[in-house]
Amino acid sequence: MKTNIIYKGDCVEVLNKEISDKSIDLIFADPPYNLSGNGLKWEGNKTGGAWYMVNENWDKMTAPEYIAFTRKWLGSCHRVLKDNASIYISSTYHNLGEILLTLKQLGFKTNNIITWQKVNAMPNMTQRVFTHSSEFVIWAVKGKKWVFNYKELKLINPDKQKDGSLKQMRDVWPLPIVQGNERLKNGDNKAIHSTQKPEEMLKRIIIASSNKGDLVLDPFLGSGTTAVMAKRLGRKWIGIEVDPKYVKAAEKRIYV
Ligand SMILES: C[S@@+](CC[C@H](N)C(=O)[O-])C[C@H]1O[C@@H](n2cnc3c(N)ncnc32)[C@H](O)[C@@H]1O
Repeated sequence: MKTNIIYKGDCVEVLNKEISDKSIDLIFADPPYNLSGNGLKWEGNKTGGAWYMVNENWDKMTAPEYIAFTRKWLGSCHRVLKDNASIYISSTYHNLGEILLTLKQLGFKTNNIITWQKVNAMPNMTQRVFTHSSEFVIWAVKGKKWVFNYKELKLINPDKQKDGSLKQMRDVWPLPIVQGNERLKNGDNKAIHSTQKPEEMLKRIIIASSNKGDLVLDPFLGSGTTAVMAKRLGRKWIGIEVDPKYVKAAEKRIYV
């Protein structure tokens, strides 16, 4: 099986064709949240530059289609994960229910639901609900003897005890939405990928649930964040991405 490679195509097809049973140590999946379609945008925003709601064809499904899609890709992930391996799935309150239920149906055990507290969240335009400033990362496992590098997580935890000593990593991660040099941009200064995840998020996940030399897979690679961080942390990686423009951007980012 090839490693350190991006496969172009639909993740279910690629997983079924290219990836062996029980061959993967860790999966990070950032699937479509199925939120696109209303074309919301805010071009005069003074706090963080122009803002555009995700509006992509891969993110527009009916509710039953979304449930069937979740079952399909998560089922394929279950097959390729080694016994005791971990899967982390990024989600919002919109798709948390579908994902948790599917994980249960497939026999996964959910260990944590990590809250990504977006410290620079966008203001609330409608002013009809509390301002959304969080996403979730579900951590689930395929057996009872999972990897959890507790001490290494303490070492990288920026949060310290009052006396400056090391502190356990909690399940709330205050991290900014990707901006500045980390954000991949086109020539016109627009973000290349609307949902690029913070490198710090992937660093924590990869350190927590894999060891050097392990194989990390991302079925929705997008701009390549998982591959970049796996490479940097001495892990092997496989990415799958359906959109050729993101494959190109990820390749450029990984092979600089
Ligand atoms: C939420 S984004 C992932 C962003 C990524 N975590 C990053 O940091 O850039 C989801 C990605 O999955 C891709 N995608 C959607 N449906 C797919 C499918 N069936 N198979 C493979 N990729 C898919 C989209 O093109 C999009 O780039």
